[in-house]
Amino acid sequence: MDLSITVNGMKFPNPFLLGSGPPGTNARVLAKSFEAGWGGAVAKTVSLESAKVVNVVPRYGKLRSRSTGEVIGFENIELISDRPIDVWLDEFRQVKKEYPNNILIASIMEEYEKSRWQELTRMVQDTGVDAFELNFSCPHGMTERKMGSEMGEHPDLTEEVTSWVTEVSKIPVWAKMTPNITNIREPALAAVGGGASGISAINTILSVIGVDLDTLRPMPTVEGHAVPGGYSAQAVRPIALRMVSQLALGLPDKVSVSGIGGIENSHDALEFFLLGASTVQICTGVMLQGVKMVDELKEGVEKFMVDKGFNSVEEIVGKSLPYFSTHMDLVQKMKAAKRMKAGEASRDNEWAQKDITEKTAELTSN
Ligand SMILES: Cc1cc2nc3c(=O)[nH]c(=O)nc-3n(C[C@H](O)[C@H](O)[C@H](O)COP(=O)(O)O)c2cc1C
Repeated sequence: MDLSITVNGMKFPNPFLLGSGPPGTNARVLAKSFEAGWGGAVAKTVSLESAKVVNVVPRYGKLRSRSTGEVIGFENIELISDRPIDVWLDEFRQVKKEYPNNILIASIMEEYEKSRWQELTRMVQDTGVDAFELNFSCPHGMTERKMGSEMGEHPDLTEEVTSWVTEVSKIPVWAKMTPNITNIREPALAAVGGGASGISAINTILSVIGVDLDTLRPMPTVEGHAVPGGYSAQAVRPIALRMVSQLALGLPDKVSVSGIGGIENSHDALEFFLLGASTVQICTGVMLQGVKMVDELKEGVEKFMVDKGFNSVEEIVGKSLPYFSTHMDLVQKMKAAKRMKAGEASRDNEWAQKDITEKTAELTSN
């Protein structure tokens, strides 16, 4: 089955992309993922001066299910790429030459200075990459240099910096949003105002993964100390789904949405397509399962398309959006369906009559 989709003029062999991070951290891993069947990749974020990027160890922390031990949440305090830009430029060229049909997106980030952003944009686009993703969203470390989410949290900066890039870019520009804001539409619309043709969402959610009760130190602990970091993996998916749906409903039609956050299998990816994403990106899922997970992504989406009678991925995109409504409207619809008795029977006074856990189960949909 044909899983290809054309977004902002780029033909993706399939809608599955590596999200920016360790899975796209050099040419070798990018090549490995394209060999494995990924449609595209957003490479690890690059900047002009890698010497300023110094990582710490450990830099990851996990939240596990109490019952099964499965990883449900993941925190990182990793910075952007610490590899020199010249090396990256060679590797972008090499990857594009070897895999011309896969979509290679360069993620870029710089300090708040027009000349730096434009220099980086020019250098990177000369390598032949297919698009840019502007990292306005890394919530830790880079913010101390006023980069990353320091820009994405301020719509005026988001718009200004996006316009610096689109002024010199000849390829599509996506802007990657931070979820650490109140209304995701504001910075997204600002990026569109600056000329972005796509919005990627979400980057990680600012978090503290836990506290070691022996040492009393917050984690991940580096030389006895810690900083809050970015939360990812399946625990963030509901928040990402909500934000993607708000973007899909609130942005002009021509603006594409790339869905990111907690995707681990085809079921998760389909939820993002149904809520308006035309591509999906996966970072932590690949770190935990390996690049081969793309096999299940493809098989699962193909099976869904056959079962439901969809002929292309494009047909799935946004299919569930019309079912969002308002609370008042849900009440009206229950009235119309003559189901008000169910509502009455669940009024707050009724809670004392049953065990609270039973009452909770009674009111739960899945
Ligand atoms: C270890 C790690 C490093 C990351 N590095 C970057 C980065 O350099 N640039 C970027 O835009 N996002 C980065 N991200 C964020 C991811 O691309 C993604 O937006 C986020 O993790 C949510 O998706 P996921 O649950 O599939 O990981 C990183 C995430 C992790 C876990």
